Amino acid sequence: MNRAQKKEYLEDYAQAKAEGKPFFPYAIYKDHLVAILALGIVILLAVVYRVEIGEPVNAASTDYVPRPEWYFFFLFELLKIFEGSNVLTPVIMGTFIVPNILVVLLLVWPFLDQGPERRIDRRPISLAVAVVVVALLAFLTHEGAKAPLGGAGEGPVLEGLDETGEAGLAVYNANGCASCHMIGGVGATGPGPNLTNEADQNRGVEWQIGHLRVPADFTPGSSMPAYDNLPDEDLESLAVFLEGLGATYTAE
Ligand code: HEC
Repeated sequence: MNRAQKKEYLEDYAQAKAEGKPFFPYAIYKDHLVAILALGIVILLAVVYRVEIGEPVNAASTDYVPRPEWYFFFLFELLKIFEGSNVLTPVIMGTFIVPNILVVLLLVWPFLDQGPERRIDRRPISLAVAVVVVALLAFLTHEGAKAPLGGAGEGPVLEGLDETGEAGLAVYNANGCASCHMIGGVGATGPGPNLTNEADQNRGVEWQIGHLRVPADFTPGSSMPAYDNLPDEDLESLAVFLEGLGATYTAE
């Protein structure tokens, strides 16, 4: 703000103060009126549109598909952006670092943007930031909403399975791999990578067996459990199965 603007502003302010209405009781009164109205609408909606109470919680259920409410889809999607070999990274980034950067930005915004303008059409940068944030939230919400269901279920449906493939798939299904991995849209979106086209990685059967036995030996810091208790033949068929994913064994 330059001097002339500042003077003009202070004059305007003094005039408004002299002529205007005091904060108490006018502004307080209006605030309360709106708050009571909003609360009334919420109560009315709760009475008119009754919410059904679902089944009681069953802690032993294995087919429960955890999904957030729609207004958390953006956060749900954010977790996936930071997906990596470490299970904690997405959680820390998505629920702590990114939201806190945004809150700090909100706090320092008045110090960053000190222009005298109040009209939104004369504040292109602020307007652009607001539009980008809202568009990003809308995009992430949309992506989160159409994300595949995940969770345990039937297991992936694959074409081209031969005997070894069938055996490998059975080991895959029996060992809860789908709780961290996805094949052809079935399974969890994380923390493990999508295995639909695992063949493209060109790991080789030896690597797969070694990795299944002790993942951390092949991917330092891996959070995947070690499957060294599985019989050799199971590891073998599982490794062949993994090496065929996207090549001989294809998801529809
Ligand atoms: C607790 C979650 C979890 C479970 C359960 C799990 N994995 Fe993993 N898996 C991961 C993570 C995280 C990675 C990435 C780090 C790594 O490569 O070890 C990974 C990596 C992999 C990879 C390497 C992909 C590549 O080429 O980079 C394969 C193959 C794999 N898992 C197969 C399996 C199979 C088969 C099972 C079941 C026997 C299984 N996983 C169970 C979390 C899991």
